Amino acid sequence: MLSTQGAGEASVIRIEREDDVAVILIDHPPVNIGGLAVRRGVLEAIAALRADPTLRAGVLIGAGSCFVSGSDLREFDAPLQDPQWPEVIAAIEDAGKPIVAALHGVAFGGGLELALGCDARIAASGTRLGLPEVTLGLIPGAGGTQRLPRLIGVEPALRLVCEGQAIDASKAAALGLIDEEVPQALRAAAVRLARSMKGRKKRLRDLEAPVGDADGLRQTLERYLRPGPGRGAVLAAAQAVQWATQLPAAQGLERERALFQELRRTPEAEALRYLFFAERSSARHEELRGVRPRDLRRIGVVGAGTMGRGIAIAVLDAGLEVVLVERDKAALEAGVAAVAQWYQGRVQAGKLHPDQASRRQGALRPSLDWAELASVDLAIEASFEDLEVKREVFARLDAVLRPGAVLASNTSYLDLDALAAATAREQDVIGLHFFSPAQVMRLLEVVRGRRSSPEALATGLALGASLGKRTVLARNAFGFIGNRIHAAYRRQCEYMLEEGAGLRQIDQALESFGFAMGPFAVADLSGLDIAWRMRQARGRKPGVRYVEIPDLLCEAGRLGRKTGAGYYRYEPSGARREDPEVESLVAAARRRAGVRPRDFRAEEIQERALAAMVNEAALVLEEQVARRGSDIDVVLVNGFGFPRWRGGPVLHARGLGPQDLHARLDELARCSGPGFMRGDPSRLFDED
Ligand code: NAI
Repeated sequence: MLSTQGAGEASVIRIEREDDVAVILIDHPPVNIGGLAVRRGVLEAIAALRADPTLRAGVLIGAGSCFVSGSDLREFDAPLQDPQWPEVIAAIEDAGKPIVAALHGVAFGGGLELALGCDARIAASGTRLGLPEVTLGLIPGAGGTQRLPRLIGVEPALRLVCEGQAIDASKAAALGLIDEEVPQALRAAAVRLARSMKGRKKRLRDLEAPVGDADGLRQTLERYLRPGPGRGAVLAAAQAVQWATQLPAAQGLERERALFQELRRTPEAEALRYLFFAERSSARHEELRGVRPRDLRRIGVVGAGTMGRGIAIAVLDAGLEVVLVERDKAALEAGVAAVAQWYQGRVQAGKLHPDQASRRQGALRPSLDWAELASVDLAIEASFEDLEVKREVFARLDAVLRPGAVLASNTSYLDLDALAAATAREQDVIGLHFFSPAQVMRLLEVVRGRRSSPEALATGLALGASLGKRTVLARNAFGFIGNRIHAAYRRQCEYMLEEGAGLRQIDQALESFGFAMGPFAVADLSGLDIAWRMRQARGRKPGVRYVEIPDLLCEAGRLGRKTGAGYYRYEPSGARREDPEVESLVAAARRRAGVRPRDFRAEEIQERALAAMVNEAALVLEEQVARRGSDIDVVLVNGFGFPRWRGGPVLHARGLGPQDLHARLDELARCSGPGFMRGDPSRLFDED
């Protein structure tokens, strides 16, 4: 066995001979990230293959769980060290002997580009392949945009590169991205294929990129070349793929690399990299290290309303069993029907195989009998948002659940400790705050009550991970992390509306900042009545500025989209229109508040709305409701439509720097008026 070794580091590459074929194993656990050690090792292995006249071909294959999972993003904040992937891939192309890439597990980003630099590709069934660079604000920088169109045609390549989504081995085979999908014995198949090539190279760079249907291509290109906030990488990726049809390979590769290097340093790419790491660390907490989550097989869900059904689907999708209980037969039946309808829709859309759909539905046990919950490992209540209702639910859960089961509430605002106190096992009570629709939204706040045990919390975090959610730990406090910051943002937008900014103007300003929808359009979509009821329950605090507009809308029966009118009026087609009735209601509210309306600029609206979020984020950190600034960004991006490519309010604040931020918060305090609580922004700059 040969072995390559870089200076001072353990070898991550092994070469094993199979007669005249060198099998080059990439062995860099846990996921063969293509960092410097791997690049250097592969380059040395190729040199060894080339130099040995008794070897006729090579196979590149991953040891362990996968081929190469991608590039090492940690390297991307500094100048990249040599050898970089283009040099390694050029060595493969110039090796004078064919090299087969044998893929399993995943081959993403630089990993897939490495495979495209080889002379043939085969993959084990189930392998996932993709070029996710655009999701990180980048384009593939090691030939992906030039070699892929030469291999599978320009239009399919555009889709893969510009969408950044992974495909599996059978789709890859259908596209011609791999030569063969092999159900088993990948290595043996790769060696056979390498030998069968009889020493002949098949370099993708030597091919022409097939253009296919010119009209279809034009339409696809138009879609991806559309400019817009946060679309820079997609646009650049589309341009780069086009070069494959316009430039010789060498020139296309050079320009692609230059563009990649340029994009790597954009604020968008930096923000997306920051989030990549923030999302991976948000579920990890020092004090929970080594704490074993309890085993989860069967989950109870109480309440089959909007949230209960969504939570049930999310749990079924993760392959767990669900016992769904209700107080009301009709509500239970409606919930079960909604679950069935969801799965039917997924099957019709071709997203789910009918067998899978029926297997998942088969794991749902609806019941009106709470005794059924005796067998669950964790129960999530999603009953009405009412303290007394929930306390009763918790007392009943306490009576039926087995010892050691976790009791969770999906409450949005209620005091978790008051709910836990209705049980004799407060240590097993946590909050699991899902977002609507729960089967779609990726965020889950795991809420720590006063007495929640580390095991119960670790179990909640583990459940979130198995549902594929981004989990964030929050302390029990009004609105937890997300709703609290979002409420401060919305309140600030209401202030500006009262002061004279236009409704549509505010929504548009924040949409052009990058939010998918402005705050008033969002309020209409989620319904104005929830916050209304909450304001009524909490009462008005004397001496605190209060904007009456939302109450006036609710009193007029305008509860949002569901009633056909809220801040806006909704046509039966769903189209949103400004409404003169709201204009006069706002004008009357301004008069009553004694405000002389003034003009606003879009930048002022954006700055104030953002400053309100940042201020609340500072308070949330100060009160230790969130543990880390980056956790707050994970929440706002995944649950509240904050533009991902901007990283989140905390990263935004860090970009402004302490001095500017202090000034902005002072100004915010002045504009907001009586009752405003100003946070101390210094914590926003703490290391995560
Ligand atoms: P919903 O009104 O659609 O559903 C509640 C369901 O619970 C109803 O089907 C009702 O029959 C059932 N229920 C009420 N009392 C019960 C009891 N004692 N035993 C068994 N079932 C009972 O409400 P929704 O929107 O699903 O909200 C549920 C919870 O989730 C609330 O705490 C809410 O604050 C929270 N939440 C809601 C979100 C939303 O966007 N709707 C988002 C995040 C949390």
